[in-house]
Amino acid sequence: MSDTPLDIKACVFDAYGTLFDVHSAVGAHRQRLGKQANEVSNTWRTKQLEYTWLRSLMGDYADFWQVTGEALDYSLDAHGIKDDALHDDLMQAYLKLEPYEEVHQVLSALKDAGYKTAILSNGAPPMLEAAIRGAGIDDLLDESLSVDDLQIFKPDPRVYELVTKAFAVEPEQVLFQSSNAWDASGAASFGFKVLWVNRFSQRPERLPSKPDYEATDLKRLLELLKISG
Ligand code: LAC
Repeated sequence: MSDTPLDIKACVFDAYGTLFDVHSAVGAHRQRLGKQANEVSNTWRTKQLEYTWLRSLMGDYADFWQVTGEALDYSLDAHGIKDDALHDDLMQAYLKLEPYEEVHQVLSALKDAGYKTAILSNGAPPMLEAAIRGAGIDDLLDESLSVDDLQIFKPDPRVYELVTKAFAVEPEQVLFQSSNAWDASGAASFGFKVLWVNRFSQRPERLPSKPDYEATDLKRLLELLKISG
């Protein structure tokens, strides 16, 4: 953990799992999925991420909407569920994911304190727009940066560079929040200061670059920056 004084200009957030609860899509249709609901959601998320990494390695980009749909296909198939209407309803629910409860408060406090704020996500722009609108945080974000401009997924360093270009800042002037430990590592490797929001009590990744800070939710960010929520 770093004790270096912070000179932060921009606070940047991963979207899925960090601001928005990816499991709330299945949560909206839990009764239709029955006892398998949590497993379907976990397989969906795991496959979604694997497909981003694999497509990046294959040089065969498809946007996050397509990847998310294909991962859901896999998950439903893996759990023996054949239900096209449910597939469509789960995809629609992915456009209306619930924000975590502290998100609005934290973003508001950052804006009041004068920080630039942004999302940096694998999400395709229309998906991010829908989630941002649904969460009512449009006015609290300066930028919504998508990998879609680059046609490659995280943790390619060019993705993190979208932030330094957008705000004309140095990597160490960015405080990046992600609940995804591998994303936290990718961002730290690029040179961002990183808060790993370990919402799911995961073990630390054995990857080369470590996050600077760890917390269970985003409120820790306000403590780090010494601002009150
Ligand atoms: C994102 C995924 C990694 O929003 O959660 O980029």
